[in-house]
Amino acid sequence: MGSAVKTIGVLTSGGDAPGMNAAIRAVVRTAISNGLKVKGIRRGYAGLLEEDIYDMSSLDVSDIIQLGGTILYTARCLEFKELEYQTKGAEICRKHGIDGVVVIGGDGSFNGASRLSEQGINTIGVPGTIDLDIACTEYTIGFDTAINTAMEAIDRLRDTSESHERCSIVEVMGRTAGHIALWTGIASGAEYILTTEEYHGDIQRIITKIKDRHKLGKKNHIVVNAEGVGNSAEMAKVIELATGVETRATILGHIQRGGNPTCKDRVYASAMGAKAVELLCEGASNRVVGYTDGEFQDYDIQEALAMSKSLDPYLFHITKKLTTRG
Ligand code: ADP
Ligand code: F6P
Repeated sequence: MGSAVKTIGVLTSGGDAPGMNAAIRAVVRTAISNGLKVKGIRRGYAGLLEEDIYDMSSLDVSDIIQLGGTILYTARCLEFKELEYQTKGAEICRKHGIDGVVVIGGDGSFNGASRLSEQGINTIGVPGTIDLDIACTEYTIGFDTAINTAMEAIDRLRDTSESHERCSIVEVMGRTAGHIALWTGIASGAEYILTTEEYHGDIQRIITKIKDRHKLGKKNHIVVNAEGVGNSAEMAKVIELATGVETRATILGHIQRGGNPTCKDRVYASAMGAKAVELLCEGASNRVVGYTDGEFQDYDIQEALAMSKSLDPYLFHITKKLTTRG
């Protein structure tokens, strides 16, 4: 049986994530081994509209599995939310002979993929975001690297906080989702974990606990604060004033998005990239790859976007005993 597509495009879109290169490599190599041609589309939908498209060979993806970032670059392209530009994007695909596109990114990027699919181009999404905030999958490419980077940074902050007998407010990424805060907070033994989902501004509770523990002889205090909660500098001032414990705020920021992907990110990215191409070969479109219940699966993009995901309830539950929740 012949493949449903002959030439595929691959792009990365939205915030980058460590492991995106491993996914690109898997897409290119799987496609070539299935007899397909592959075209790289630089800078997401922006590059598609600008026809920044080039032929990719197996050699183009040599020695990239270990690299952070994305060799295809990434961008946010607001124009692509408009029908006119989606139609133009599909026309450009046809002009370049592209009949299937693998989109590596987050929910926003999958919306774009879905629109492209409506315009007659077969599309498959691959979940690439450090935030782990894609509901149809238990795993997103980049999360594992990001949490390990943040965890190591918090370990370092713990050292200096202990020497100076300080409190550290550490802000980790996650504008709307607290998964990074929850995981890094547990892994670094943080005293407090503040997430958008569960923190409702009760700073007095944190202050009281810091005072109590300080009296008991605790020398340092780590508060992991999610980006969505924010306000870390202000929080540090309030805590210092109320407790008398010198307090510093550190925003880890984009450091969490860089660096060599972990083994887990490389392997999952490889599997997800390969699966995306296999789906295109079977004639699938408007699907997103996910990892659920121990298996790589695929979902209709619209159904996937309609799903919701909360913080892991059991992980959240154990923080009650291991830490103090704000
Ligand atoms: P992520 O993919 O990480 O969620 P964004 O939400 O920034 O990141 O989306 C990335 C890009 O996907 C946007 O800049 C835009 O090009 C495209 N996109 C987002 N939402 C839509 C939409 N509703 N329709 C078409 N394209 C979209
Ligand atoms: O979605 C990934 C992410 O890193 C979020 O955690 C963060 O809020 C956002 O991207 C930052 O985006 P930008 O790179 O545009 O500052």
